[in-house]
Amino acid sequence: MSETLPIPTVHTVADLRAIVSGWKSDGKTVGFVPTMGALHAGHISLIDIAKSRADKTVASVFVNPKQFAPGEDFGAYPRTLPDDAARLAAAGCDLLYAPNGPEMYPDGFATSVHVGGPSQELETRFRPHFFDGVATVVTKLFTQVRPDCAVFGEKDYQQLLVITRLAADLDLDVDIIPGPVVREADGLALSSRNVYLSPENRVRAVRLNALLFSCAEALEKGEPISGTLNTARMIAESAFDLVDYIEVRCAETLSALPGPVLDRPARILAAIRLGDTRLIDNVAAHPA
Ligand code: PAJ
Repeated sequence: MSETLPIPTVHTVADLRAIVSGWKSDGKTVGFVPTMGALHAGHISLIDIAKSRADKTVASVFVNPKQFAPGEDFGAYPRTLPDDAARLAAAGCDLLYAPNGPEMYPDGFATSVHVGGPSQELETRFRPHFFDGVATVVTKLFTQVRPDCAVFGEKDYQQLLVITRLAADLDLDVDIIPGPVVREADGLALSSRNVYLSPENRVRAVRLNALLFSCAEALEKGEPISGTLNTARMIAESAFDLVDYIEVRCAETLSALPGPVLDRPARILAAIRLGDTRLIDNVAAHPA
């Protein structure tokens, strides 16, 4: 236990298990919110959901090296544990688990969890290592915490579906609960990576959510998917420094829609770059 942080904090699996098994033997249910820290109101909204679903709430903060490729921002990723602990304490979270790296990935660690299905395409085309890293760490975290439910943000929509698939396929006995995207007043989705944006790029960033919402509106009016996407891609190419993707997919499976118009609940997903910062966002679109 760490004495200096404003919330009970553990760094080892043994200390974590001692506390969680105490709760379980008292008949308490456990909700879990895994994070990489640099917490903002989006993360805290997931804590609120976990609190409403379970008696006790655990949050983890671990910048998982396995989901960063060489050249990505692992070293630069913001690490703000004292602030994170203060936010979690204020939100009424019961326990902060900040695992130590060597215990998570000791020398000789040789296992990787691969989820197919919803992990294909979209993010994987641009970050092929990513979902194996996420699935591996989340499997470990679930095994360590043994939560009854875990909350994941729709901000990372593909990740949410990958984890849902993982929990079902491996009988992990954890309910996966989605949390809606929390946005700034101008619509920009909150992200730990927004701190990288220059003031000028912060202004440009707002165009991402605006574009996705206007696509959703067009599709919901019955406009053709391919034309709507072509227009959106053209606008995006001129608004951003690079467009990784803008796609419309089935909200349940992330498979492509047969078209030509929206015929089922869908998600419009995008990843773009502004300077060195990569932003992802997505919005729902429902057929009339
Ligand atoms: P991280 O990016 O810290 O996000 C932790 C959780 O917060 C994820 O479920 C993410 O979808 C959610 N989140 C982030 N921004 C949000 C927003 N604006 N509104 C709602 N929820 C938001 O995602 C990860 O960490 C990692 O991949 C992790 C699952 C912890 C595995 O390492």
